[in-house]
Amino acid sequence: MPGALPLTLDQIDLFDPTPFEMGEAHALFTYLRNNKPVFWNEGPENLVGTWNLTKFEDVVFVSRQPETFISSTGITQMKLRMPEPEGLFGDTSGNGKMLITMDPPRHVRLRRLVNKGFTPRAVAAMEAHIREITTEILDGIADRRSCDFVLEVSSQLPLAVICGMMGLEKKDWPLMFELTNKVLGAGDPEYQTDVPEEQRGSREAANMTGAMGFMQMFSFFGQQLQKRRVDPENDLISLLCGSEVDGEALTDEEILWFCFLLILAGNETTRNGISAGLITLCQNPAERERLQKDLSLMPSAVEEILRYTSPVTHMAREATRDVEIRGQLIRAGERVTMWYPSVNRDEDIFPDSQRFDITRTPNDHLAFGIGEHFCLGAGFARLELRVMFEELFRRFPDIDMDGPAERLRSTFIGGIKHLPVRYTPKG
Ligand code: HEM
Repeated sequence: MPGALPLTLDQIDLFDPTPFEMGEAHALFTYLRNNKPVFWNEGPENLVGTWNLTKFEDVVFVSRQPETFISSTGITQMKLRMPEPEGLFGDTSGNGKMLITMDPPRHVRLRRLVNKGFTPRAVAAMEAHIREITTEILDGIADRRSCDFVLEVSSQLPLAVICGMMGLEKKDWPLMFELTNKVLGAGDPEYQTDVPEEQRGSREAANMTGAMGFMQMFSFFGQQLQKRRVDPENDLISLLCGSEVDGEALTDEEILWFCFLLILAGNETTRNGISAGLITLCQNPAERERLQKDLSLMPSAVEEILRYTSPVTHMAREATRDVEIRGQLIRAGERVTMWYPSVNRDEDIFPDSQRFDITRTPNDHLAFGIGEHFCLGAGFARLELRVMFEELFRRFPDIDMDGPAERLRSTFIGGIKHLPVRYTPKG
């Protein structure tokens, strides 16, 4: 039961990825919600400290005030004390350059450009296609008894969907998988493949891995952009090429940052929702049985999976003026970090909040954030989760974990890197 560890505030360091990698962060969050819901965490020597918000209402308060709590100085807790000198590739932080790191009013205008591709109608129109992709993925594992669910199943659906929307050729999809892992999993030794083995695990190895992923990604999308400029297609990149904000066409740099955001956000989130969803269902056999007996419960089960697993772990903001949260003064220029796995188990909002209940109602979780930056891809993520579990249980009703999951070493993404599963093959 989370919260059982004897803890004191000075033992809690939310910059340390270890509890996240071990799947033990809920113990820290439960303690903080009950003892210090607005908690100051001094940063390690290279990073600035941050106020950590673990209660639902406080995260809603911050998210609904995008002018007071801005995103353009960075959306993770990893804010350097001393800005790094710009390297060969200029400023690689992306701050202020992507939808997710932009503030009003430009944020709203840029978002309007792509909104059409993400409306409920656009999402619904993709269902048959998404089911087709899912079937193909499951066909690929059908004649065996076991597989790595992450590598062969859960990562493949979001990869195919977002790459398809961006018009990327199938031969390039594995590269996208590799590069998104490098960028968002830079701190995990498994993805530090550009660094000699004995140096993996260090801060330098993480910086190097992130930089390599970034560089390769921009060079790849640079080529894609050039192709679309000459020969536009019916895809998101071509749409961006022909778009204007405030009467001005988007620059190459703006389009490249958009591609960077879409490929990361589309890939590294839903994958973990599917993997963590399967783990949760395996660990809660009564709820799983209820669902498998009545697949019409799937939409509400998906919401509960999202609440319970919260695949994006945090988003950060910076205060532009002095504000009080729960009586605590947050000064202009200080940073706040919003912890989604915590707010989604806030006892004041979700009764019996640690219980996984596939028919929980109401279930207004914040797994996709709330307000101005609410997840653009939420509709796709929900659809992908629903279709995947419908098809998975139809074909492999006895699928089960065949060993422990391996989690990503990250405080930002609740990643599952590997998940061994076994099942009865489908002849
Ligand atoms: C289970 C899957 C997903 C989760 C948990 C998730 C979660 C989130 C969260 C927490 C935010 C930020 C909210 C904020 O800052 O207030 C966000 C933003 C965003 N997400 Fe997702 N996401 C998921 C899937 C996707 C997918 C599939 C796509 C694209 C196809 C996507 C695209 C985006 C974009 C573009 C933004 C920035 C929106 C903005 O700043 O206006 N996400 N997402």
